[in-house]
Amino acid sequence: MKALITGGCGFIGSHVARAFVTDGWEVTNLDKLTYAANPANVAGLAGQPNYRFIEGDLCDATLVRDLVAGMDLVLNFAAETHVDRSLLDPAVFARTDVEGVVCLLEAIRADGRAALLHMSTDEVFGSLPEPEEAAEDAPFAPTSPYSASKAAAELMVRAYRETYGLPVTVLRCCNVFGPLQHVEKFIPLFTIRALAGEPMPLYGDGLQQREWLYVDDLVEAIRFVARGSSSDVREINVGSGHRVTNIEIARRICELTERPASLIHPVLDRPGHDRRYAIDWSKLRATGWSPKVDFEDGLARTVAWYTAHGRERAEGDDRFAGYFRAQYGQRLK
Ligand SMILES: NC(=O)c1ccc[n+]([C@@H]2O[C@H](COP(=O)([O-])OP(=O)(O)OC[C@H]3O[C@@H](n4cnc5c(N)ncnc54)[C@H](O)[C@@H]3O)[C@@H](O)[C@H]2O)c1
Repeated sequence: MKALITGGCGFIGSHVARAFVTDGWEVTNLDKLTYAANPANVAGLAGQPNYRFIEGDLCDATLVRDLVAGMDLVLNFAAETHVDRSLLDPAVFARTDVEGVVCLLEAIRADGRAALLHMSTDEVFGSLPEPEEAAEDAPFAPTSPYSASKAAAELMVRAYRETYGLPVTVLRCCNVFGPLQHVEKFIPLFTIRALAGEPMPLYGDGLQQREWLYVDDLVEAIRFVARGSSSDVREINVGSGHRVTNIEIARRICELTERPASLIHPVLDRPGHDRRYAIDWSKLRATGWSPKVDFEDGLARTVAWYTAHGRERAEGDDRFAGYFRAQYGQRLK
C-alpha cells in the first residue's frame, strides 16, 4: 500500500511517517522544509527501501498531482501551525492551509483513487465555556488566522466530498505534545527556558485551558482510522479528556526540571487568545480507540527528551532566536 504523507518533517508528520514505514507502507514524504521542519526528525528513515523524501510545496499543483497519482492514501499534515505566527503573517496560513488543501483535493479528484486523511484541529470550534464540549457537528467559531484557515480548509474538504464524492476523513485533534515538536511551541519552549534558568513568558493569567494528547496516542489513532476508514466519509474528533491550564503545565515543567516556579513570568496576552478548548471524542472511543499514555507520564517523557535535545535544537536553528526576540522581547522587558 502506498501513502503520501505531507509535512512529514514536522512534529506529527514525522512520527506518523516512522509508524507507517514500520508498518510496511510505501511512504512518500512531501515537505517544503519551512522553519518548522527538521530533517533530523526523519533521519532514521533515509535509506529505507519503502521511504522517499520529496522537497516541495503543497501548493505546487503539478508536483502534487504527480505525487498523488497511484497513492492509496494521502495523509495531510503540511500546514502553517503556530497561532502566534498567524497573528504576524496571516497570508502564509491562507496559502498553505487553504490553497494547499485545495491543490491536494484537486489532485485527488484527478487521480480518482486515493483516499484523504486530513488533519484538523479542535481550534476550529473556538473557545467554549465550561462545561461545553464540541462534538463532530458543533458549529465552527474560529478566532485566530490559524484556526480560521483550518476551518476554511475543512469547508473545502466538505465541499469536495459533497460535490465530487471524494473519500475524505477529517481528524480534528486537541493539542498534541511529545518529542520532535518545534522548540518555539509552548511545552518545548518552557522546558528549554526553565532548563536555562531564563524567564518563561506566560501569556496573561495563564488560565487558558487546553486538552492534551501525547503524540504516540495520536499516531495510534491515525493507524486505527487508516486501517478501517479509507473508503469511509466522515469527521472524527480525537481527544484525551485531559484538560489543563497553561499555568499548571508551566508549574509542572518547573518541578520536572527542578527549577523554581519564580521563573514563570506573566507577559501581555496575545490578542484574541481563546480561553478554553474541549473536544467530545466519544464517537472514536466507541469504535475502539482510546489514549494509553497518561498526561503526567507523557509530560515527563517530553521534558526528558527536551532536556537531552532541546538546547541543541534551539541553538541549531538560526531563526529561533530572532523569532523569540520578536515575539517576547518587548513583553519580557
Ligand atoms: N501540534 C498540534 O498540537 C496539533 C493539534 C491539532 C492539529 N494539528 C494539525 O496537525 C498538522 C501537523 O501539525 P504539526 O504540529 O506537526 O506541525 P509542524 O508545524 O510541526 O509541521 C508542519 C510541517 O509542514 C511543512 N509545511 C509547511 N508548509 C508546507 C507547504 N506549503 N508544503 C509542504 N510542506 C509544508 C513544514 O515544513 C513542517 O514540516 C497540522 O495540520 C496542524 O494544524 C496539530
